[in-house]
Amino acid sequence: MHPVTAALLTWYDRNARVLPWRGIHNPYRTWVSEAMLQQTRVETVLSYYDRFLARFPDLPSLAAAEEADVLKLWEGLGYYSRARNLWNGARMVMQQYGGSLPSDPDQLLAICGIGPYMAGAIASIAFDIPVPAVDGNVIRVVSRLFGIRGDASAPAARREIEFRAAALVPPERPGDHNQAVMDLGATVCVPGTPDCDRCPLSAFCDAYARGDAADLPLMPKARKPKTIPWTVLVIRSGSRFLLRMRTEKLLQGLWCFPMLEGHLSPEDLHSAVHSKLHLSAGAVQDHGIARHVFTHQVWDMSLFSLEAPSETAAPAGYEFVEINEIKNRALPTAMKAAVRVLQLF
Ligand code: ADE
Repeated sequence: MHPVTAALLTWYDRNARVLPWRGIHNPYRTWVSEAMLQQTRVETVLSYYDRFLARFPDLPSLAAAEEADVLKLWEGLGYYSRARNLWNGARMVMQQYGGSLPSDPDQLLAICGIGPYMAGAIASIAFDIPVPAVDGNVIRVVSRLFGIRGDASAPAARREIEFRAAALVPPERPGDHNQAVMDLGATVCVPGTPDCDRCPLSAFCDAYARGDAADLPLMPKARKPKTIPWTVLVIRSGSRFLLRMRTEKLLQGLWCFPMLEGHLSPEDLHSAVHSKLHLSAGAVQDHGIARHVFTHQVWDMSLFSLEAPSETAAPAGYEFVEINEIKNRALPTAMKAAVRVLQLF
């Protein structure tokens, strides 16, 4: 075993975070946990994980679910394509493998929603196959440890990181090793200023020796997210409110209040509502501004409520939903401020 790996496993045995998806050998549960953990903090995932598995305790139950129910359980967790992919993947596994995930990383890779990281994570954690699972934590730890100073998003450095990461994975306890790197990256070898004094690997670490751990990995500057102005409308007709299920890639399958491009003034609202939504609405109330930050864009939303006559028909692509039914639909966190407006009625 590589001396780095031995030191890391010793550290892990003392310091591993106790998490509900650990200490089990259940490929489906590993898959659910890894899908939730991509891009999302452990603390956030904990409650979602338990609720999801209470509702869908095994792969066949997930495969048999309605897509809308899966999205509802994912509500607030973000990156909803993960939920859709997990559900589509589960259906694939039912058809192709009778409901049991394969252990072979190449077969895992062919399943919807499973990329190289997740194939490695599932194979190593659930099946004890000695393959790496390279995520952001691993990129950071390995870049520092081996002093990889090229652009970590470029193919050359990326290949070296993957090669180094693979060479560390031991034949025994590969899943523990991979999770040890994740824990080290999350608690000690953190972005920005790492806590090298507490690191079990500092004696082996090139960046520690050279004093540039805080600068690694080298990443090109992220582009600033683009701010998009919207006018979001809470339109009431009797006890119903107008919603639309998004078909766009961002937030696909989630329900939003009608959104018009730009920040419309209250005076312009009626004609815009008439021309875009073919509704004639009465009194307008201004509810101020709400912002929601996505990875690549920021929604800067001015929020208004309007009254439409009762019995108004919904425009094509929209639905008037009873207020009591709205809680059963999956609404994204971006609509939180608009949902608060609902409570005023
Ligand atoms: N991040 C991604 N996968 C993880 C895991 N299995 N444990 C802790 N953090 C993680």
